[in-house]
Amino acid sequence: MSRFTRELSEQIAREFAAAQQYIAIAVWYDRETLPELARHFYRQAVEERNHAMIIVQYLLDTQQEVKIPGVDAPKTEFPDPRAPVALAYEQERDVTDRIQKLTRIARDEGDLVGEQFLAWFLKEQIEEMASMADLLTVVERASSTNILLAEDYLARTAVAAGKGRGEAPPAAGGAL
Ligand SMILES: [Fe+2]
Ligand SMILES: [Fe+2]
Repeated sequence: MSRFTRELSEQIAREFAAAQQYIAIAVWYDRETLPELARHFYRQAVEERNHAMIIVQYLLDTQQEVKIPGVDAPKTEFPDPRAPVALAYEQERDVTDRIQKLTRIARDEGDLVGEQFLAWFLKEQIEEMASMADLLTVVERASSTNILLAEDYLARTAVAAGKGRGEAPPAAGGAL
């Protein structure tokens, strides 16, 4: 197994861990009766799950070993409504770094197919970091006045979420 394949397999665990973390965040908002924030993170969790399954499909398509990993427990307690979004933003930045590292490994190993596969993830990360940064700005502004302003923001912009998914690589078992 190449170093690239090994590191890419580890990314499956990180995508599933991100999905679990977003479910935990969604449940936290749900308990706080902030339904739009909850809905947003339930949806993000599905996207992270799809990311994991896109990598699984790639490994299947390229005749490589696939192992479905366990994941670490997510953070479930937060001091205030801003904290989960701050954590999510940090997580997205971390994923971007890791995808860049993976791309560099593919390039170093001359794995052009692998490098090309990751191009979609790099593009996706720009979008995810930008939308999480926007949400963080809104939540920070709203938490000093009225957190329901963040709910309004999400209710108004929800239509834009999830667009451009058409060009996503195939996910094992189909994207949800
Ligand atoms: Fe992801
Ligand atoms: Fe993400």
